[in-house]
Amino acid sequence: MSDTSKKLYIETLGCAMNVRDSEHIIAELNTKDNYTLTENLHEADLILVNTCSVREKPVSKLFSEIGKHNLHKKEGAKIGVCGCTASHLGKEIFRRAPYVSFVLGARNVSKISEAVKTERFLSVDIDHDESAYTFGEYRNSLYKAYVNISIGCDKKCTYCIVPHTRGEEISIPPELIIQEARKAAKNGAKEIFLLGQNVNSYGKRFSGMREQKIDFSDLLNAIGEIPEVERIRFTSPHPLHMDDKFLETFANNPKVCKSMHMPLQSGSSAVLERMKRGYTKEWFLNRALKLRAMIPDVSISTDIIVAFPGESEADFEETLDVMRQVQFEQIFAFKYSPRPLTKAAEFDDQIDATIGSLRLDRLQSMQDDILDVIAQSRRDKVYAVYIDELRNNGFLAGRTDNNALVQITGDESWLGQTINIKITNPKRLCLYGDSVI
Ligand code: 5AD
Ligand code: SF4
Repeated sequence: MSDTSKKLYIETLGCAMNVRDSEHIIAELNTKDNYTLTENLHEADLILVNTCSVREKPVSKLFSEIGKHNLHKKEGAKIGVCGCTASHLGKEIFRRAPYVSFVLGARNVSKISEAVKTERFLSVDIDHDESAYTFGEYRNSLYKAYVNISIGCDKKCTYCIVPHTRGEEISIPPELIIQEARKAAKNGAKEIFLLGQNVNSYGKRFSGMREQKIDFSDLLNAIGEIPEVERIRFTSPHPLHMDDKFLETFANNPKVCKSMHMPLQSGSSAVLERMKRGYTKEWFLNRALKLRAMIPDVSISTDIIVAFPGESEADFEETLDVMRQVQFEQIFAFKYSPRPLTKAAEFDDQIDATIGSLRLDRLQSMQDDILDVIAQSRRDKVYAVYIDELRNNGFLAGRTDNNALVQITGDESWLGQTINIKITNPKRLCLYGDSVI
């Protein structure tokens, strides 16, 4: 790349979807406007923050973050705000931070090149359809590739702002997905990570007419046909759409990694009803325990919200009960955060924040005990670990098929290889071990 290139500094908050959107932004700005990445904010010509609005915390963080960037930026450098908070706050961002040059919503990523060239550019339309747009190529990792399979979300979970930031769900045409997966795999990414708000409702709606029906199970099998692809992961599936066909494809396709994210949110059927999740505690348990029975080594992760409006002590106990029965390998737990534009923010039985914190502590301490047992059960076992990262601490890192993080000291040439590792020192969040030849 030439020395005349302009420098881009980009900060990504939020989920994997945002990470992929940032890759698209980097690719577009590189090919169309000759920007190259820098990790040094002071030398950047363009500073971007790709934002998340799922909870209040990342939103307040945004304004303190861009305020700091504005103080430290190079003279003449531009600041742009992208992503979900851009979608939901729109021009309010210009009012609160007048030094911002443009605001680009989560569903408007393809307009990034136009945004950087237009003063006070604002594009936050959540009906904009980018489902068949072909972005430029850029990937953070050589070894694993995120591939979007849909945009938006059709669910109406009463706590969630995402439908207001990413709009309605549209599936990306399967030909484009397969083409992208094939290209990434040919370039060395043996692991393909499929992304969508609701992956297992894939195929419900495309932007054009399609003759052949295709669902998520069909898509998994089609990607499994690509010879260079060794591992397929995906996030997030919805528990409601975990029908038998999906569970069987998941269990039987050897390339599909045996780790399932099942966002529970609450173990109380009454709370689930008020969240409009569409399933009950019993349905969730039925699916999770069926998975455990079908695949002995499966790992199941989940998201949980505590202190949703009206959550009683008994409701919370139901969540703990599901945790006891399922024994999740990983939990992302959050205190309910009222979000603008959502139904639950209007419910009149909001729960005191201190109760939320206490429940979160109880949940975490129970999960720590569960994780200690799971970690110890892995001692002396041998796992095939796909090594995909050299960490700053000098360790090589990778994941087992069922998504446990493993770190090992070894040779850099192992990057991109699957190595058999015997676990000698299992910790709650990471397993340490030695290679076995
Ligand atoms: N408050 C707290 N957590 C939330 N999540 C989504 N909306 C909220 C909210 N208003 C959590 C859910 C979701 C994860 C990405 O974030 O658990 O699965
Ligand atoms: Fe991702 Fe949701 Fe945050 Fe948007 S609001 S970045 S979709 S987690």
